[in-house]
Amino acid sequence: MRVAALVLAAGRGERIGAAQPKAFLSIAGRPIVLHAIEALAACDAVDAIVPVLPAPLLERARDWNASARARRKLAPAVAGGAERQDSMRAGLAALPASVELVAVHDAARALVRAADVARVVEAARRTGAALLAVPVRDTLKRVRDARVVATEPRESLWAAQTPQVFRAALLREALAKAEAEGFRGTDDAQLVERLGAPIEIVEGDPGNVKITWAADLAWAESALAAREGDA
Ligand code: C5P
Repeated sequence: MRVAALVLAAGRGERIGAAQPKAFLSIAGRPIVLHAIEALAACDAVDAIVPVLPAPLLERARDWNASARARRKLAPAVAGGAERQDSMRAGLAALPASVELVAVHDAARALVRAADVARVVEAARRTGAALLAVPVRDTLKRVRDARVVATEPRESLWAAQTPQVFRAALLREALAKAEAEGFRGTDDAQLVERLGAPIEIVEGDPGNVKITWAADLAWAESALAAREGDA
């Protein structure tokens, strides 16, 4: 079964407050998006990787100093769109019909571990849809006008990560339904949920953080250094 990964890197990342798009900022000397690509390439279950980049930066992919393994799997980069879902659509449209499983990954999750990618791909191969997630660790408050309205029961809440992996036909159907109904999701599983299809949760690594704020850059550098020290 052919497995393709879409690496969504076309966001501006405004919360990080940098002049260039977030996925092009460097951690440990290479762009965030390349860390994500290398992690996916290190997973034997992933056959091909399609980076989805801001249109003006498509050429930058040529300058990446990717490993031989990543170069073998890298497909030409695709231009993303205004919102994450537009970028996912553009990546999905670029995949050949022979792709059976699609792993959608946020480039901002640069520290994902190849072993976790393998586990979520395996789950989706069995069930049709699976995502990495971690149990919520904090107590969650519902807030309105800076006042607590309620405390949400934490036991049943998980924080969704990526990759999220789907049978290609299922993801296409979910996207078509969402777009026909004008629905915009913040992740891909949300679109598949709306079909009523079962989605398996695979417990991921709390370190698979979405780099969002400036402070996450320094944290990610030290997490990578610690990982290399362990290896
Ligand atoms: O904005 P947020 O952090 O939720 O974005 C998640 C991922 O989706 C990021 O890796 C970002 O680059 C990507 N994205 C995209 N196209 C957009 C918006 C976000 O590829 N228009």
